[in-house]
This record gives sequence, structure tokens and C-alpha cells, in this order.
Amino acid sequence: MEVINIGMLGLGTVGSGVVRMLTDHAEKISLITGRKLVVKTVVVHDLTKKRSVDMTGINVTDDVTAILNDPEIGLVVEVMGTVDTACDYIKRALKAGKHVVTANKDLIATHGPELTSLALEQGCDLYYEASVAGGIPILRTIVNSFAADKIVEVKGIVNGTTNYIMTQMNQAGISYEQALKQAQELGFAEADPTNDVEGIDAAYKMIILTQFAFGKDITLDDVKLEGISNVKAEDIAEAKRLGYKLKLLGISKLVNKHLDVSVGPVLVPRNQPLAAVQNENNAVFVTGAAVGETMFYGPGAGELPTANSVLSDIITVAKNIVMGTTGVRFNDYSANVKLAVPSE
Ligand code: HSE
Repeated sequence: MEVINIGMLGLGTVGSGVVRMLTDHAEKISLITGRKLVVKTVVVHDLTKKRSVDMTGINVTDDVTAILNDPEIGLVVEVMGTVDTACDYIKRALKAGKHVVTANKDLIATHGPELTSLALEQGCDLYYEASVAGGIPILRTIVNSFAADKIVEVKGIVNGTTNYIMTQMNQAGISYEQALKQAQELGFAEADPTNDVEGIDAAYKMIILTQFAFGKDITLDDVKLEGISNVKAEDIAEAKRLGYKLKLLGISKLVNKHLDVSVGPVLVPRNQPLAAVQNENNAVFVTGAAVGETMFYGPGAGELPTANSVLSDIITVAKNIVMGTTGVRFNDYSANVKLAVPSE
């Protein structure tokens, strides 16, 4: 069987999950793609770190040119998580004619259109399903399953850290500071939780969702943004008393033909499905003019859920290579780009 060699940038939690799933599900992946998918080289920052996955036969290096200059590597998987370095490496990979899969939401939210243009110019694939809502296959669903419908609203809980904090404040009656500390101890929140608690992480995901649902490229400046760092235990208790739950919602919707995109704490009636989304889970509501309301629920992060989304992209690229259909933009099928909401 012919081989597709993969170069991986980064081997943290998600990267380890990708290596694990490629090994554990190798037979199924080969049956689907008609190719053997092999991780040939992994670029890591710390060569001495002990890895949790079997690295037998994988070249581990701190030199990115071992991937970028290797003509046998046709697919680069970026799971490093920085913006500037990852952007530089991805551009160099695309310029070298390599297809790219990334899980990097910060990068796609800030440089997505530029990287997509470069990928199209180069006839390369660029996929990033894992960048929004971790294990929920939401981008592909919008592209494929809403292809003929007109989406009027996308909203949801797209940040697990803040949902965990607010769930704990509601259930255990603890303060924001206590809940944040718990989230950090459990590994949900970063040591510097600013992007999560100030709503920036959710806004990045809404930027990508808006692009897919409405075909419009927006930036952080276009998002009305409020985080949860000012939410008090009393606010949560009062909401509870009145029959609501306070949730950090991202909302992107058409209002009088203009897009309104926001992230902020919203009172959700207790009997609404979004109110039932607890702890670090995510949920996305997509409303189409034809189909009406749909809801997609699942883990917004984590090793294997996120790796599964990365693998769905890897398999798509492998199929495109086999069928000779690479170089198409991820969300082209929806035609939403051509029907984009006019600029203000
Ligand atoms: N910090 C993110 C969250 C991780 O809490 O949802 C997944 O993007």
C-alpha cells in the first residue's frame, strides 16, 4: 500500500492523541483512504521530554527543516499552539507545496484568510476542524450539512474553561476565584487564563464560525466582547433564583442584513438546552432558514476528542490526495463566500 508521510509540528496533548489514534485506528484509516498514513518526523521544543506515546520509527527533532525540506513529507500537522512561529512554519510548508492541518484557533482567527489564500495559490489543502469546539465536528457540519440552507444564527457555549467556572459557581455556590483555581488545578484553565475568562478564546471561535456560516471575514474588533471576570457569586445566585443560568455565549446572527457578533454572559432560561451544558463541555446551536434550530454538543477540548477532529482533517486530505482534488478551500462548498453579507 502506498504511504502518505506526515510531519508533525508539536507533540503536546493533542499531538500525542493524533499519534495514538493513527496507531490504534491504523487499519480503519487505511481502509478509508487506501493509503498507509505514517508519522515520519515530529518537531518538538524539548528533545529530552519523555513522551506518553510509542515513538518507535518516528524521527524526533528540534529542526523544522527536517520536515519542510523533506520531499517525502506531503502533509504537515501543526499542533504547537503558538501564533507567530506556527504561522511562519505553515507558510513555509505551503510554499513548499505541502498540505496543512492545524488545530490552532488563535492562528486561524487572526491569519485564516491570508493562509487560505496562500494555500489556494499553492494548490494545497488547509483544514482546521479542531480549531473550534474541540471534539464537536461543527465546521464540517456547516460546510456539508447546511450546504443548501441559509444560516441565520450560530450561537453557543464555545469555551470550556468559563463554562466550568460558571457551572461550579452555580452548583457549589463558590466564588469566581475559587472556581478558577479549581479549573486550573484540573488543567482546564491555563496558568494565564486571560484569553478564556475575558472571552477572547470564545471570540476567536466565533470569528471562525462566522466565516463558515456567513462567508464573512471578521476580526476581534468586530466582536462585542465581555468576559466573566466581573461575574459575582451573587449574580449567579440571583439568576438561579429567577429560573436562569448565566452562560458565556458566543452569538453570530443576521440583524437587518447585517452581522451582529458578540461574546458575553447571557441569562439562559433553565429549561433551554444550552442551560443544561455543564462543566467543560461545549454546545453550538445552528439555525437555518429551512432546517430551523439544530444543536451540536460535546467535549470542547481534551486529547482524544480534539485529536479525532484533527484526524478527520488528515483523512480528508489523504482522500483529496488520492482523488486529485486538493487545493479547494475548506468552506467553498457552502457558496456562502460568494453570497457573503455585504460590508457595512
Ligand atoms: N481554552 C479552551 C477552552 C480550550 O477552555 O475551551 C479549547 O479551545
